[in-house]
Amino acid sequence: MRMVDLIEKKKNGEMLTAEEIQWMISGYTKGEIPDYQMSAMCMAIYFRGMTMDETITLTMAMRDSGDVLDLSGISGVKVDKHSTGGVGDKTTMALGPIVASLGVPVAKMSGRGLGHTGGTIDKLECFPGFSTSISEETFKDNVNNIGIAVAGQTANLAPADKKLYALRDTTACVNQKSLIASSIMSKKLASGSDAIVLDVKVGNGAFMENAEDARALAQIMVDIGKGAGKQTHALITNMDQPLGNAVGNSVEVLEAIETLKGNGPDDFLEVVYALGKHMLLLAGKADSEEDALAKMKETIANGNALQKLREFVAAQGGDPSYVDDPSKLPLAPVVVEVAAPCDGYVKTLEARPIGHASMLLGGGRATKESDIDLSVGCILRKKIGDEVKKGDSLCTIYAQTAEAAEAASKEVLGAYEFSDSFVAKPTMIYAELM
Ligand code: URA
Repeated sequence: MRMVDLIEKKKNGEMLTAEEIQWMISGYTKGEIPDYQMSAMCMAIYFRGMTMDETITLTMAMRDSGDVLDLSGISGVKVDKHSTGGVGDKTTMALGPIVASLGVPVAKMSGRGLGHTGGTIDKLECFPGFSTSISEETFKDNVNNIGIAVAGQTANLAPADKKLYALRDTTACVNQKSLIASSIMSKKLASGSDAIVLDVKVGNGAFMENAEDARALAQIMVDIGKGAGKQTHALITNMDQPLGNAVGNSVEVLEAIETLKGNGPDDFLEVVYALGKHMLLLAGKADSEEDALAKMKETIANGNALQKLREFVAAQGGDPSYVDDPSKLPLAPVVVEVAAPCDGYVKTLEARPIGHASMLLGGGRATKESDIDLSVGCILRKKIGDEVKKGDSLCTIYAQTAEAAEAASKEVLGAYEFSDSFVAKPTMIYAELM
């Protein structure tokens, strides 16, 4: 087989056979197919698309390019949760302890963030001493003993996707449904869980900017999951504005802790409860949607979810005293309020510039190697639908320098639009696919 012939075929809109896709992924993983040919293929796929059969074959080939974890040593139905990514998405930090405290084994592989803000691992490292570089044995023991563990993604988990994603990122080929679905699902299927709950974000801060595309992406992923024998549910959720109020690392951890104490922002709680409901149902830990919701509210109210976070942090070497005294979390010294320029109602609060503001402050990575500052970030004080008076604080910025705060303030202000008349709060959950 020759890669140039496969590129030609896809360029002409023809379908690749399973054998061709498997050959291509195996050759690319081994370094036998160069990046320039693979980039041409990605661009051809970008414009010509892939059929469902091609997408499934691509996913399985990427899953099998490395280790496929065996979590059978962990008892119970392991339900993995994955978000397609957005601004202020600290869901795992709150949802993990909530469902773990209700008996759902949480055995999660997470990544560091690239762009906007940190990923779950960066956030967990706000607890001094916390390590996600734990052995497979410790990982499994922790899930069996306390119900939750989060490990860094091993180098050999879907290595084909690692290479391909980096290539797509630098050749403007991220935004294609079959490529996104196969990328995400190859990793989820290699992570060894029994069932999968997907949070497909839609809006100006997400990969999918309209509901129709998000629904199509979600359906592809659900079909791939089911095709691989895993129960897979997908939610389509709103990312027209940042999720919750905090965007950054320490500030997001703080918000997750507050959520577990019963003080979570409404929009964030709505998404947490919606995802948690599916996790509890799939794990057989709730009899109905109402039962699931009642159990989640109860585990927050009685302190069990917060206790689970303490145990989780301690089991991975972190200092659990930060859970009880989150004021110990590092916060940058320059604190600036962004003032509302007029009276009215918040009509728009674009997620992307808020993520960019966090980057400007040093809270996100420009490259995989960059260090990030855990102490910087923004706390939004006004969100879509809120009434504001001129001079009210829209957002509090935590920065290292006055210059960085100034640059971030401009970005934040540019994210807002106001209306003279009443604006309704946005719907958070657009659809649930099963
Ligand atoms: N997340 C992934 O892991 N892959 C994509 O292609 C997009 C988001």
